[in-house]
Amino acid sequence: MQVNIDLKKVIDNSYDITIDTLPKVHFDTKVAIITNPKVAGLHLSYLLSRITAKELYIITVADGEEYKNQESIDTILESLFNHRFNRKSLLIAFGGGVIGDMTGYASSIYQRGIDFVQIPTTLLSQVDASVGGKTGMNNSYGKNLIGAFHQPKAVYIDPYFLTTLPAREFGAGVAEIIKMAVTFNQEFFEYLESADLSNPEILQEAIKKAVQTKADVVAQDEKEHGIRAALNYGHTFGHVIENETKYKKFLHGEAVAIGMVMANETALKMGLMEKDDVLRVKALLEKYSLQTTYPIDNVDSFYETFYLDKKSSDTAITFIIPVGIGGVKITDKIDKDLIISVLDEHGR
Ligand SMILES: NC(=O)c1ccc[n+]([C@@H]2O[C@H](COP(=O)([O-])OP(=O)(O)OC[C@H]3O[C@@H](n4cnc5c(N)ncnc54)[C@H](O)[C@@H]3O)[C@@H](O)[C@H]2O)c1
Repeated sequence: MQVNIDLKKVIDNSYDITIDTLPKVHFDTKVAIITNPKVAGLHLSYLLSRITAKELYIITVADGEEYKNQESIDTILESLFNHRFNRKSLLIAFGGGVIGDMTGYASSIYQRGIDFVQIPTTLLSQVDASVGGKTGMNNSYGKNLIGAFHQPKAVYIDPYFLTTLPAREFGAGVAEIIKMAVTFNQEFFEYLESADLSNPEILQEAIKKAVQTKADVVAQDEKEHGIRAALNYGHTFGHVIENETKYKKFLHGEAVAIGMVMANETALKMGLMEKDDVLRVKALLEKYSLQTTYPIDNVDSFYETFYLDKKSSDTAITFIIPVGIGGVKITDKIDKDLIISVLDEHGR
């Protein structure tokens, strides 16, 4: 005997992403804004001039990737219990991707899941992390190994917040924008080649195009069973670079930028990308002062570190390789010798 629970149409995870000056919004429920001291110091008063609620609390956690952990999640959850948050209460993530991932994760587990809203304040979180419902935290085994898919109820992207962002953080976000264009949208790539992202209107348009690209991909493959993995372009190589440099030398987006160049060099050897396109991507990254080469000390150990990647198994390494500009191939069938030759020749 079997009983079937038909859930296909029960859950509607759709939501709107607003890219504009933060609107005035009132929430008729208990709300906690999760943020860190840096973002709060810079922008909390502005946020509070736009966002009101029946009851409003501010919860701050320490700033930095090293605090994207269970301890910070516990701090958030305890505060929610202390303030008697219930299943109708709401969290607001107010910060970069670290705050977004932790707020999303806390809201996915508090009383088995409550709503949350994303108000991202870094370029990387505006174009990438705030969209698509991946949430999580790190532990001693690695980055983002614990988490849940939990979509926000809404995302409010206000480019005004970026006016205080340090240049390197801005560049790291641009790398993710370029990633979106190379993998999925040739026209967007061409737009970026002639765009000046220091112009606020053009930046807003580029954010919109990147978010639209990501939203389209997530709508096709919410839980990353297929095409969404292509958004990890540059990451297989980038993670090794981050790992080798102990997460200290490069911001994530900066390591991804070099990783994209390595993936393109792989595509060139595989006959999937023209030399001219490899150079165009490199030039675009360099236009935003992103480093595009990385001196590899030991090619064999670099290769072995690929196996730590979440997308890889014990025996196969998954690579995201561009097909020209605007196309992409996900494969775990690239010959080791070919990758080694890319690593050997990289930066020469
Ligand atoms: N969930 C996803 O789909 C997804 C996608 C990509 C990245 N991520 C995650 O996002 C995180 C990286 O995000 P990030 O690059 O935003 O880093 P981050 O959140 O650490 O922010 C970078 C720094 O900028 C500061 N900051 C934030 N807003 C600012 C502003 N307006 N002005 C000045 N300083 C500001 C932060 O306090 C921090 O010191 C990683 O943990 C990564 O795993 C998640």
